[in-house]
Amino acid sequence: MNHITNILYDEDQKIFHLRGKDFSYIMQICKEGYLGHLYWGKRLRSYHGSMNFRYADRPFSPNPYPGDRTFSLDTFPQEMPAFGNTDFRVPAIQLEWPDGSRITDFRYESHRIFEGKPELVGLPATYVESDDEAATLEITLKDSFYPVSIVLSYTVFRDENVLTRSVKISNQMKEEIKILKIASMNVDFRENEWKLLHLSGAWGSERQMIERTVEQGICQIESRRGASSHQHNPFLALMRKDAGETSGEVYGCNLVYSGNFLAQIEVDGFHNTRINMGINPFDFSWRLMPDAIFQTPEVVMVYSSQGLGEMSRTFHRLYRRRLCRGIFRDQERPILINNWEATYFDFDQEKIVGIAGQASALGIELLVLDDGWFGKRNIDTDSLGDWSVNYNKLPGGLDGLAGLVKQTGMKFGLWVEPEMVSPDSDLYRAHPDWCLHVPNRNRSESRNQLVLDFSRKDVRNYILNKMINILESAPIQYIKWDMNRNMTEVGSVSLPGKNQQEVSHRYILGLYEVLEALVSRFPNVLFESCSGGGGRFDPGMLFYMPQTWTSDDTDAMERLKIQYGTSILYPAISMGSHVSAVPNHQVHRITDLKMRGDVAMSGNFGYELDLTKLSLEESVQIRDQICLYKKIRGLIQFGEQYRLLNPFKDDRTAWMFVSADQSQAYVSYFKHMGYAQEEFRTLRLQGLEPSFLYATDEGDVFGGSELMYAGIPLPQLDGDYKSYTVSLRKIEDTVPE
Ligand code: DGJ
Repeated sequence: MNHITNILYDEDQKIFHLRGKDFSYIMQICKEGYLGHLYWGKRLRSYHGSMNFRYADRPFSPNPYPGDRTFSLDTFPQEMPAFGNTDFRVPAIQLEWPDGSRITDFRYESHRIFEGKPELVGLPATYVESDDEAATLEITLKDSFYPVSIVLSYTVFRDENVLTRSVKISNQMKEEIKILKIASMNVDFRENEWKLLHLSGAWGSERQMIERTVEQGICQIESRRGASSHQHNPFLALMRKDAGETSGEVYGCNLVYSGNFLAQIEVDGFHNTRINMGINPFDFSWRLMPDAIFQTPEVVMVYSSQGLGEMSRTFHRLYRRRLCRGIFRDQERPILINNWEATYFDFDQEKIVGIAGQASALGIELLVLDDGWFGKRNIDTDSLGDWSVNYNKLPGGLDGLAGLVKQTGMKFGLWVEPEMVSPDSDLYRAHPDWCLHVPNRNRSESRNQLVLDFSRKDVRNYILNKMINILESAPIQYIKWDMNRNMTEVGSVSLPGKNQQEVSHRYILGLYEVLEALVSRFPNVLFESCSGGGGRFDPGMLFYMPQTWTSDDTDAMERLKIQYGTSILYPAISMGSHVSAVPNHQVHRITDLKMRGDVAMSGNFGYELDLTKLSLEESVQIRDQICLYKKIRGLIQFGEQYRLLNPFKDDRTAWMFVSADQSQAYVSYFKHMGYAQEEFRTLRLQGLEPSFLYATDEGDVFGGSELMYAGIPLPQLDGDYKSYTVSLRKIEDTVPE
């Protein structure tokens, strides 16, 4: 037996046993050299063959070895399955060889086990700060005919139930080959009794929870939009049929990538379930030149034996601590005021300074100047690409405005949309082929704009320099990086015809290159990503920018579902959530300021309304909200989140945040609709220490076990859209018996 800490290799049986905190992941090289999957689930102390491969003669499952009718890849559970040599299920890899054939046959060649986790060149990924946090296994498989190998990389985090996987392919031939599909991971479960959870929606209703049973056939979740998208998050979870929020086994997979992705779930006729995930092979291919390497993005795979809640908290901790980077990772984030819904394009220096003065008096810490400060942009038809200040609106320029905002005691932040160009812009007039397009075809616009071709180095350099100039021109301490359309007519005139199917992936690589250059050059700037709200809320973007504007829909009621769904994967600190005016601009609903505040305070808090138009009463209420958020901010942003009532299933929503030492908690309860006969309700809490005694701010005292098993009494709330919050703090270590 040869092992490094969490990764064991049994030389005789050729078995790899990866052991995380509470899970095991086991693989075996079968006698023919294929890498087979044995087990992913609750941690095993040892493995003695209970899941060993079983072979049987199955009609219509062909056999690669004449004479042996029992072996077929069609029924063999694999780690990196291909198509064409007896497996008919969805493949994880498909290549095209120089002769046009597409048969691959990858067999085990070697492996290496080491402490730590290597970086993924050019791609965002989770990381370790010291080698003892994780161990990595790299298994090299080689094609049985051509000198092409793939390296499957598995990293086990020691203190979390996290396994990450990615794949690297290298071409040692003298000729180029073509990658048609290369998933980042594949798991073949030998069972089919699952529920599938995914997060889907549209602009303004991102990450709605969709749960369905998995049946024989293929189900796929994907984006073909050039961004991870509002429509589907690059995520799937398989849940045991009896699994729920607080119990049961859940397997969650999330791709660290911001472009087109595909997640497939296939149940075959033998009751097996295959899942795989990676770059979307639709309209994708990659010419892999001699000696070149292609690296796939990483998939984060979380195992939970205690339901969805525990899966989410694992993702939250990992993303907070080992995906997000930079000085803001561990810092409480500023409360901001954004002028978008306050003014849209209709502002000038005086208006912004007026808002800043009022914001500062209320305790807000950062003013964000949104769209409309550059070129001649007073409407969304023009000027993207012309990144020079509009002196008619801002006579003192950005520097002047930032100075005035600073005088009010606040930080200054700025909106940009660097990946886009307006046809009505000097940039487009000077460089009409700098956008994604296909010659002789229409250039479809969306929000009157085109997408700059970030697969081109010259375009990237130009934009990067523009951003550097902006950031160096004024004391800007925050950037909101927006992206307001998806890709059409995807083509780059800088690439030959044969490479055109590489463009969407090259775009994302180019984007990552620019973001890396920018965030490393400006480590003291807080970056927030945005894509018409949450159209690119994915772990890829979080690697560069530690917070995201969750949704353009700021209605408190709609936000309950959006933020609940988002919390399935992403921590509250990463979720921008603002109080906006009523009637709400997206759905025209009127909710009271308390409800709006309580919903927004469940994330990374801010305001997005005209503070100069508040009544005295509203100003007082807002000042109190800001005071409260400053007290609970550490808990919300760095605590553990427990979801208590699910708005997708109930007519109420509730969640709570608990500090790491369980000495503090903050509970938020939202009642969606009013009822004539409101019931007396209690709310059962989670995550507290049963033996502690807790007090509320109002002086009520409860035991931890009492709050969790019996519940906290809820008041009767009159009317629609009501909220109620409770702050708990430990007052004694042990509840007297
Ligand atoms: C879309 C964003 O999501 C909004 O918050 C705002 O920044 C607009 N773009 C500005 O054009």
